[in-house]
Amino acid sequence: MSVLSGKKVLLGVTAGIAAYKTASLVRLFIKSGAEVMVVMTPASKDFVTPLTLSTLSKNPVHSTFYEKEDENELWNNHVDLGLWADIMLIAPATANTLSKMTNGICDNLLLATYLSAKCPIYFAPAMDLDMYQHPSTKKSLQSLQNFGNILIPATSGELASGLVGEGRMAEPADIVSFIENDILFKLPLRGKKILITAGPTYEAIDPVRFIGNHSSGKMGFELAKTAANLGAEVFLVSGPSYQKVTHSFIHRIDVKSAQQMYDACHTYYKTVDIAILSAAVADYRPKNIATQKIKKKDTALVIELEPTKDILKSLGQIKTTQFLVGFALETNNEVENAKAKIVKKKLDLIVLNSLQDKGAGFATDTNKITIIDANFKQKVFALKSKKEVSVDIMNEILSRVL
Ligand code: CTP
Repeated sequence: MSVLSGKKVLLGVTAGIAAYKTASLVRLFIKSGAEVMVVMTPASKDFVTPLTLSTLSKNPVHSTFYEKEDENELWNNHVDLGLWADIMLIAPATANTLSKMTNGICDNLLLATYLSAKCPIYFAPAMDLDMYQHPSTKKSLQSLQNFGNILIPATSGELASGLVGEGRMAEPADIVSFIENDILFKLPLRGKKILITAGPTYEAIDPVRFIGNHSSGKMGFELAKTAANLGAEVFLVSGPSYQKVTHSFIHRIDVKSAQQMYDACHTYYKTVDIAILSAAVADYRPKNIATQKIKKKDTALVIELEPTKDILKSLGQIKTTQFLVGFALETNNEVENAKAKIVKKKLDLIVLNSLQDKGAGFATDTNKITIIDANFKQKVFALKSKKEVSVDIMNEILSRVL
């Protein structure tokens, strides 16, 4: 999965012959899972049609402040467009547009949108070689980078004029890779490895029955996605769960029992920087697993249980540099019990769920948490979706490990 997946890309097209390549560019962004909107300068419509770009981007293309629809005049709000975008790319960026961007001129919708945008802005110049070498163009390129915009340099090759030299817009595939790599490079957890446990464990009674719990795995899977989106390589050790994940940074390791989860965690723990144990591990398992299906009798059935290994505690005992995060699901004396678990399991952070809070805990789409750190500093969060909760948890971890 591309880092661009789910991102909102605003493509600004200006009037250079390379504008014909923006059709491929839009396709590549869409293929990477991004949502695309296109803003064009009026003159660029001579090089590529708005119909082509709106069809490929699956969105209307804007080029003027006002548009007439039936009898109504519609106002295209450049501020809204600028705020909508996660990334703005101006490609091709002509010498004229670069100069206007440098000087804050906004005599068209694209330039006004550029000035309003708060997101990272990439620009891919395209022009003839002498224009590219002109001191005024060089000055524009420098000033725009000083403003914090990101240059995707032009390449060398045959130009529309027939001359050969520097000034060709980078190829669409190279522009997309440039942006992907730039985003990846800036991700805060780039190069970090994280172990996450999720879901329930199933402890076998006989070949067809088990002791389990209602954990859906949702919280752990959301944590894995959030960590991967922040650039981490994630080892997601999951008990039986219907949750799905397809992210190239996430390695999913499926297990069933607490013992299998213990073994998988110990395989990866030594190599990771952070471990988050959100699984609802069974505390007990049948002492003897019947090899044949247990037959029904008229008398009561007694199954003797023995404790499973406490995975989190065992990781706390061998902790070196890992930042270790546990979960606590409590019904009473919540904060005191959670603090005791921090000490007993040598944790850096604990995420407390109280079953007294509505919408918290198992098998819901929401969660309400309190985070307590090793100094017993507490932060109480509102009821939120598990996706939002995973972002809160990762932010608390980031503020302590980076
Ligand atoms: N945990 C674990 N291995 C176990 C049991 C729990 O790794 N065998 C982890 C959970 O993933 C969670 C934390 O320990 O991160 C706390 O789990 P919880 O069930 O709240 O606490 P327990 O330590 O089992 O204590 P109790 O059930 O008595 O509250």
